Amino acid sequence: MADLEQALSFGTAAATYDRFRPAYPLTALTWAVDAPAPVEAVDLAAGTGILTRQLLGLGHRVVPVEPDPGMRAQLDLATPGTTALAGSAESMPLPDGVADVVMTGQAYHWFDRERAHAEVARVLRPGGRFAPIWNSRDESVPWVAELSRLLANFAGRSSVDTAPDLTSFGEWFEPLERAEFTHATRHTADTLVGLVGTRSYYLTASPQRRRELESAVRDLATNHPDLAGLESFELPYRTTAYRARRV
Ligand SMILES: C[S@@+](CC[C@H](N)C(=O)[O-])C[C@H]1O[C@@H](n2cnc3c(N)ncnc32)[C@H](O)[C@@H]1O
Repeated sequence: MADLEQALSFGTAAATYDRFRPAYPLTALTWAVDAPAPVEAVDLAAGTGILTRQLLGLGHRVVPVEPDPGMRAQLDLATPGTTALAGSAESMPLPDGVADVVMTGQAYHWFDRERAHAEVARVLRPGGRFAPIWNSRDESVPWVAELSRLLANFAGRSSVDTAPDLTSFGEWFEPLERAEFTHATRHTADTLVGLVGTRSYYLTASPQRRRELESAVRDLATNHPDLAGLESFELPYRTTAYRARRV
């Protein structure tokens, strides 16, 4: 499966994506921005605007940039007063030095890193911050570990949906800092199936394979000893945030 096909698969399920994907803990966003509101923020790979709306809610001015037209349409619909710009991490339609912070949620792993580092550095003012962030399921919880095993088997990888270990954003940035936060979202069996349906490896699978995965996830949510008999339950997350200052 080509990485590009997976990277650009999300727009086919934009409304579902917006409904089921988790937001980020506000403490993590405050840590990442590291300056009092309002700052000039770019939400890079903004998707349907989950992070955009949270940054707006914190009082920042936000320009969302997103390559997928389906995701941009959903963002515009769900974020009155905001229009997403067509662009990518490798090429943003923005002047030099305009942003105090460039944040990116659940997306840095899709970028051509060398080109993205140079482009983010161009858009940031000196001293501005680049801050990628990820929600990852907390696999220390047994049923969550089981869910992750099931998803990794489906995707044909040893693990899925985990934050990468990053060491540098290249020559334009000071050493990066990392912090972890926790939060949780409430689910039913139906919404857990809905959430899995927003993953790139699901979106690029055949209808038959999709049905197999949906049925396995529903079975887990209904019969795992931690969840059996519960109408709803919490899915715990660890949120990993990085930040680095532009030199
Ligand atoms: C998992 S979604 C994350 C969306 C949003 N940031 C969030 O937190 O919900 C990944 C997004 O990255 C976008 N994307 C993929 N490759 C990209 C690239 N090279 N530059 C910018 N965005 C990209 C996809 O179109 C998709 O909207």
